[in-house]
Amino acid sequence: MEINRIAVIGAGAMGTGIAYQAARFGLEVTLNDIKQEFIDKGISKIKEMVKTGVERKKLDLKEAKAIIEGIKPHLDLKEAVKDADMVVEAIFENMEVKKELFAKLDEYTKPDAILATNTSSLSVTEIATATKRPKKVIGTHFFNPVYTMKLVEIVLGEKSSEDTIEKAIEFAKRLDKTPVKVKDSPGFIVNRILGALMGEAIKILEEGLATGRDIDTAMTLGANHPVGPLTLADFVGLDIAAATANTLHQGLGDCYQTPKLLLEKVEKGELGMKSGKGFFEYTE
Ligand SMILES: NC(=O)c1ccc[n+]([C@@H]2O[C@H](COP(=O)([O-])OP(=O)(O)OC[C@H]3O[C@@H](n4cnc5c(N)ncnc54)[C@H](O)[C@@H]3O)[C@@H](O)[C@H]2O)c1
Repeated sequence: MEINRIAVIGAGAMGTGIAYQAARFGLEVTLNDIKQEFIDKGISKIKEMVKTGVERKKLDLKEAKAIIEGIKPHLDLKEAVKDADMVVEAIFENMEVKKELFAKLDEYTKPDAILATNTSSLSVTEIATATKRPKKVIGTHFFNPVYTMKLVEIVLGEKSSEDTIEKAIEFAKRLDKTPVKVKDSPGFIVNRILGALMGEAIKILEEGLATGRDIDTAMTLGANHPVGPLTLADFVGLDIAAATANTLHQGLGDCYQTPKLLLEKVEKGELGMKSGKGFFEYTE
């Protein structure tokens, strides 16, 4: 079975990006969320992306129209997924909530549909236990913002079949992304490495060894990274960075201790760019 119709569950930052990218490359897309207002917000965000694409001459008007018409919003989950060849879940990063959804997806989708999760830190193998088709469950970990970030980590659950892995790879390529395969494990590839990098940067700051600006300058000029690790943490969101750090700590042991300074900032509501302040300050 070729993947032509997908359902994206969750119309937030990642779900809208995945829906946009899939529609841009000719797939039929349905988009679902728990409230109509969240779907409406997601559709507005997609229209904004299309508008920016046209302004930057990345899309012509025909392509823009095809993207908007190619994404059908559905508040009813059953309706949203019934014809899908593949479902891509991009809802809250919470195991119980994801398992509850996957049990419903198992019931509502065609028996041969692939069920993919965009989780950035949870176990794909465990999510798959909520279904009777663990062979067809896989991780497709896109990066933010989806339309510019080229990578998709294909996260192999313990029971993901070869056919499912191949289909997920083809799907990523069809969306003009570069897939890499990784076995289900804490942080997969990118977040495991970035977690270590950001953690050490925060510890250097915490120990008073260098200023935040100098730490970031050191890594941009000394390691040729496009942004410094503290700016990157502010971009990702310090609450998300802390949640990822906790997962890495639990899964990989004490070399991944969550820095105290990170937890203090989250406690104070200093969440990075989205709250105006993290390791640095941001104005609109
Ligand atoms: N934001 C990132 O940088 C990033 C990057 C890679 C992966 N991820 C992962 O992608 C997933 C989504 O992240 P996000 O940043 O888009 O989150 P978000 O908070 O922007 O959006 C999540 C959306 O899911 C909806 N939702 C929650 N429960 C639902 C349910 N049961 N059914 C339907 N919709 C539901 C919410 O209403 C919300 O609109 C998470 O698993 C996250 O870890 C995020």
